Amino acid sequence: MNHPMGPKKNIDWGSLSFSYLKTDYRFEATCVDGVWSKGQVVESEVMTLHEGAPALHYGQSCFEGLKAQTAKDGRILLFRPELNNQRMQESAERLLMPKVPTELFMEGVEAVIRANLAWIPPYGSGASFYLRPFLIGSGENLGLRPAKEYTFRVFASPVGPYYKSGGLKMISLAVIDVDRAAPLGTGGYKIGANYSGGLMATKIAQSLGANEALYLDPKERRYLEEAGSANIILALKGKRFATPKSPSILPSVTRRSIVTLAEKELGFSVEERPIDFIAEHGEIEEMGACGTAAVLSPIGKVLINDHWYKVGQDSEHPGPIMLDLYNRLTALQRGERPDPYGWTYEVKLT
Ligand code: PLP
Ligand code: COI
Repeated sequence: MNHPMGPKKNIDWGSLSFSYLKTDYRFEATCVDGVWSKGQVVESEVMTLHEGAPALHYGQSCFEGLKAQTAKDGRILLFRPELNNQRMQESAERLLMPKVPTELFMEGVEAVIRANLAWIPPYGSGASFYLRPFLIGSGENLGLRPAKEYTFRVFASPVGPYYKSGGLKMISLAVIDVDRAAPLGTGGYKIGANYSGGLMATKIAQSLGANEALYLDPKERRYLEEAGSANIILALKGKRFATPKSPSILPSVTRRSIVTLAEKELGFSVEERPIDFIAEHGEIEEMGACGTAAVLSPIGKVLINDHWYKVGQDSEHPGPIMLDLYNRLTALQRGERPDPYGWTYEVKLT
């Protein structure tokens, strides 16, 4: 399928929010009896699904999220896509689904980029191209068994900032009486069921004035877990950098990258451990939520037990550490600085 390397769509890139905009093409492949079909680029955004599909009834579905950025020289860059593929394979294994082979995953992601070049936000626009690969149990199955057929699809949408406050603005999170994960459950995997279970938490958190929910560990309800769509990072007094350790949080690609930057470039000592927010509140200088959609959003306030805790000295403005990390991360993602880590992946455009 040839796509003319024509002009960009007439979009006000700077005013995009994080929502779905229909692009021209998507990619799909199916797996029957463990054998993957050849994937193909398709036009329709509508999928036909058997009414007995386990994805619909039993939540046999997992997904990924990654962004493509346009560099100054026009290259299209992905950020550590192999980690998204690896995580999707782990999610698939957990839900007894066939793994999407690395070559097929990358073929799908790159095909969607090449087919939709006109939709990819230009350099400097502040927007990015969000790719959503997903894998679902799509064949018929009434009993509680894994599906016999699976569909892997990748679609994409140009997007702006995830949180309503927009860009590098302060956000707030609220702990409420709804858990996202169970101690030996599926919290560490990027599966659909974790997110449908969290919709209510997000709604309640937002009704309390927060951007989204903050979860505590489901066993003791004491240690920080993660936000509804992002991991948590903290800069502590004494040049320490901390992030929660728990089997039930998503292993965020962004968080793992930021931790490396904090350690290698800013000289922090990194602690990955259980974090008791209330007990350690006085030690916290800055706090952030990080993820592909959230990028790095500094946290100004946290609601726990009906009390709003202000974070650090200035809960109204991004602090210097989060700002520095944000700049270092996004400069890497946009190819604005050398990449000593080998994290950026240049998409083959021909
Ligand atoms: N935690 C949750 C629950 C998420 O949905 C996401 C988003 O993908 C993240 C954390 C951040 O992960 P990543 O940095 O890999 O996008
Ligand atoms: C992402 O950051 O890619 C996510 O998947 C979060 C999602 C809830 C929008």
